[in-house]
Amino acid sequence: MSDLADLEKHATAELAASVDEATLRAWNTKYFGTNGEVLAALKAIGGIPKDERKAYGQEANRIKEALSRSYEAALADAKERALNESLTANPLDVTLPGRPVTRGRLHIATQVMRQIYAVFADMGFQVYRTREVEDDLTNFELLNMPPHHPARDMWDTFHTTVPGVILRTHTSPGQIHVMRESCPQPIRVILPGMCYRYEAITTRSEIQFQQVEGLVVGEHVTMTDLKGTITAFARRLFGQERQVRFRSSYFPFTEPSIEVDIDWPKDDPNADRLTKGTGWLEIMGAGMVHPVVLRNGGYDPAKFTGFAFGMGPQRITMLKHAIDDIRQFWGNDLRFLQQF
Ligand code: PHE
Repeated sequence: MSDLADLEKHATAELAASVDEATLRAWNTKYFGTNGEVLAALKAIGGIPKDERKAYGQEANRIKEALSRSYEAALADAKERALNESLTANPLDVTLPGRPVTRGRLHIATQVMRQIYAVFADMGFQVYRTREVEDDLTNFELLNMPPHHPARDMWDTFHTTVPGVILRTHTSPGQIHVMRESCPQPIRVILPGMCYRYEAITTRSEIQFQQVEGLVVGEHVTMTDLKGTITAFARRLFGQERQVRFRSSYFPFTEPSIEVDIDWPKDDPNADRLTKGTGWLEIMGAGMVHPVVLRNGGYDPAKFTGFAFGMGPQRITMLKHAIDDIRQFWGNDLRFLQQF
């Protein structure tokens, strides 16, 4: 019994001397750990002579309870003291403004693409996506450009290690995919997406750029439809007062082929530089779908006609926002991107 009184005395004294959490925990291990003194005292109950055992056991348990209560209280005290100390040592200023939440935004190229989709959606066009990795057959041959065709020089590109598999040079091969999938239904789609060309990178050309292709196929589709559609589009995007000019041109997959210009506002200080003094600015290539291409898509050119156009939305964005370097688009410079 005197052992127990001794244990209680020195354990209590040591607990009182433990001022912080670390020493308290060490105390706890010393008395209540697997080899702790309190546990040893409890284990000793079995070896006490019978007549003393009950009293000893009760006393041992009382001490165990009392010590563990004191320990919990001391631990809570120590934690509270530590918290108060840290609060006074490093005071919190709860009136400081919070950190601003940075807001993301759509890339300017995406914003303009969506404007273009909206304009065409209003005219009943659907968005149709096709692959960026193409074969030579679809990118060139089925578009009326056999292997020897000189027009291929305009569209030099990247070749994969698989013969005949290339990165598409324009969105026009999508025309073949959509025709083969839709034939003999009429078609009214735009085909947006990334294109690739083997180019020297300059302020005006990149090896990677976006295009938006348009394709309409049906019975009695005429050049007038082409001109009306493109004029409506150009005015929605650049302003209702825009004049639209059609020049004859050449593409192997359209016949006749045209290039489309808009007049540029004369009061824009950049007008002369942009239009090289002509007042006109090219925005796209277009034309009536070549009968060979219609046939390659599965349509009978005696019954069906169609028109197609292709534009570079980044170029259009550059015009709209007076951006003078196409490399800004994929340059990831936040100073550029955050302006839009
Ligand atoms: N594919 C042509 C180009 O990349 C553009 C175009 C598309 C022209 C459709 C006519 C018809 O330059």
